Amino acid sequence: MNIDAIKTAYRRYARVYDVVFGPIFHPGRKTIISALDCHPGDAILEVGVGTGLSLPLYPDDVKVTGIDISTEMLNKARRRVDREELTHVEAVLEMDAEQMQFRDNGFDKVVAMYVVSVVPDPVQLVREMARVCKPEGDIFIANHFRSTNPLLRSVENLLAPLSKLAGFRPDFDLDDFLQKTGLEVVEIRSVNLFGYWKVLRCRNVG
Ligand SMILES: C[S@@+](CC[C@H](N)C(=O)[O-])C[C@H]1O[C@@H](n2cnc3c(N)ncnc32)[C@H](O)[C@@H]1O
Repeated sequence: MNIDAIKTAYRRYARVYDVVFGPIFHPGRKTIISALDCHPGDAILEVGVGTGLSLPLYPDDVKVTGIDISTEMLNKARRRVDREELTHVEAVLEMDAEQMQFRDNGFDKVVAMYVVSVVPDPVQLVREMARVCKPEGDIFIANHFRSTNPLLRSVENLLAPLSKLAGFRPDFDLDDFLQKTGLEVVEIRSVNLFGYWKVLRCRNVG
C-alpha cells in the first residue's frame, strides 16, 4: 500500500462509493457518533472522511473537521456539506492523515472510520491521531480486522495480495495493530453485517 495506489483506488471508488459502501458501513458510523458523547463546542477531527457519509450524523453544536487524501472523495464530501447545509462542519481539507498540519492537542475527539487498514503506515496514523488529540481525549476507530474464523481467515489470506488494487488490507490483524500502536482500548464493539467489523473506543494516553 502506498499513497499513489490509495489515491488511484479511491479515484475509482468515488463515483460508486456511497452506493457500495454507504449502507453496509453505516451502523458502525452511527455507533461511533452516538458513543462520542459530544458536548457543545467539542472540536472533532475525522481522518479519512471520504465522501462525508458520517457528517450529517454529528450533532449541530460541535465543530467537525474532515480530512482525506483523495480529491475525488473530498469533492463529494464538500458537495454534501453544501447540499445538506451542515453548519457544524468547519472544514473539509485535503491532507495526509499520517502527516497532519494541525497543532498538538487541538481536538477533543479524533475518529477514523474504515481507514486504519487503508493507509500505508497504520502506526504512524495512530501516532498522529494521538498527537492532535487532547490528552485523555477519545480516539475512535472502526475497521475490519482479520477474522478468528478459520474459513473466513483463509479467504482473507487469499485476498491479501489484492490489497493494492482493493485499496485496503483484508488480513489486518487486531492484536498486532494494538501491540504496535500501544492504543489503550476502553471498549470494543462488533458492528455491521454479522459483526464482521469492530469499533474501538480508546483513551488518548499520548
Ligand atoms: C474506506 S474509505 C472510508 C471513508 C469514510 N470514512 C467512510 O466511513 O465511508 C477510506 C478513506 O481513507 C482515505 N485515506 C487513505 N489514506 C489516507 C491518508 N493517508 N490520509 C487521509 N485519508 C486517507 C481514502 O482516500 C478514503 O477516502
